[in-house]
Amino acid sequence: MSERLRLLSARIWRFVSAVSVRVKILGMALGLALLLGGGILWQVRAALAHTLQTQAESESVTLGRDLAARAADPILLNDLVGLQKLLNETLENNSDLRYAFITDKYGQVLVHTFGKGFPLALLDVNNANADEHHRTTVLQTEEGLVWDTAVPILEGRAGVIRVGISDANLRASIAAVSAQILLMMALVSAAGVLGAALLTFILTRPLQELVEATRRVAQGDFSPRVPRWADDEIGDLAEAFNAMTAELARADELRREREHLRRQLLEKVIATQEDERRRIARELHDSASQNLTSLMVGLKNIETICDNPRLRATVDELRGVASQTLDEVHEISARLRPRILDDLGLSAALERLTREWQARYKIPVDLLIHIGAERLPGEIETAIYRIVQESLTNAARYAEARSVSVLVERRGGEIVAVVEDDGQGFNLSQTIGDHRLGLVGMRERAELLGGQLTIESAPGQGVGIHVQIPLTRATP
Ligand SMILES: Nc1ncnc2c1ncn2[C@@H]1O[C@H](COP(=O)(O)OP(=O)(O)OP(=O)(O)O)[C@@H](O)[C@H]1O
Ligand SMILES: [Mg+2]
Repeated sequence: MSERLRLLSARIWRFVSAVSVRVKILGMALGLALLLGGGILWQVRAALAHTLQTQAESESVTLGRDLAARAADPILLNDLVGLQKLLNETLENNSDLRYAFITDKYGQVLVHTFGKGFPLALLDVNNANADEHHRTTVLQTEEGLVWDTAVPILEGRAGVIRVGISDANLRASIAAVSAQILLMMALVSAAGVLGAALLTFILTRPLQELVEATRRVAQGDFSPRVPRWADDEIGDLAEAFNAMTAELARADELRREREHLRRQLLEKVIATQEDERRRIARELHDSASQNLTSLMVGLKNIETICDNPRLRATVDELRGVASQTLDEVHEISARLRPRILDDLGLSAALERLTREWQARYKIPVDLLIHIGAERLPGEIETAIYRIVQESLTNAARYAEARSVSVLVERRGGEIVAVVEDDGQGFNLSQTIGDHRLGLVGMRERAELLGGQLTIESAPGQGVGIHVQIPLTRATP
């Protein structure tokens, strides 16, 4: 039982909480009007019924007493015609009177108002003893209630008179009053609902505006302001909301400025880094390589003029060291900033990068480039090259991959690069927050150029780095 009650209350609560505030307030107003109207109607009907019943009873006694007094003389004179006339006239003049009849002291009916058929059963339902003032009983008839009063005439010596007062008029008056109350109730309810509708409109309109404005704020638009409709709590809420959005807008502006500055700084750092790398690579090439080459030529000369075989062997060895160092300097210089990237473009640079990587790590690389013969903007070439380079470095350091694939192509208005390995992969969430710069740097490079970088990986699933960079740079 209590479980059922709990379920019922839960269902009612679900229903009530699901409807809007507007419907709730209207429902409350209507419910209150109906409850109040119903209570008043019930109370008035009960009070009216009680008063009118008391009135019917006293009318029945008064009429019985009056007729008893007026019937005494005709009975003593044995004037049955006068007696009948008295009853008939009384019946005609009193619309509440249903019947009247007189019995003699032996209980025989002398006169009555029933026309031909007197209902004999009526004789037994009420009577008054000689010493009684009157006796009233309520009869339930087909027509309704009848207050039947018996009054002894001349202390019962001249018989008893009985009158029956019906409640039909009484019920009609109660019905009329009820109808009036109902009409009143309908009018008051309608006025109440109208008033409540107006009130809810006044109440919910600013709330709806607030909801709408909050949605826009949630979408990152801090411009909406709501009007202060009234000087109440909702007005205070609107003001607080406006202050909040103004503060949010200020904070957002500040954040944008900082982000702009950060981007500018980052762009500068990356550009400076590339320039620096280019400069060091050139220095290595122009100065260290030249010197090493001169050294090798000098050693060669010594070797040709020297007769001592031991010295020649040492010079030869030194020439080998110088040649190896020259190769290493070339390699370092190429890794710092491959001149081929500046001279021949992305395709050639990537081909060389993958070729050397493949040779060094003995892992096959599948390279596919579809970017056409036209050169791409320098910053995009550098970004794609560095992203592929870092992806390959990571693959060599961590992946233990069996193969790697690199795809770079022009798709519509953007350049897409995908580097995938079939190695052991990693858990993306665990690398966030570490002081590692590779993946973060790749993303920064892509985003600075208005592009995007996504990393797909899971332990045992390999790693996929996808980058898209628009050819015409979008304003970030
Ligand atoms: N191809 C890969 N296969 C497996 N794990 C990888 C791969 N690439 C990156 N990771 C994992 O992600 C981590 C973060 O890589 P990220 O390049 O950002 O930093 P790092 O290589 O450790 O340091 P940095 O690049 O700054 O020298 C790596 O430490 C490694 O655990
Ligand atoms: Mg790395």
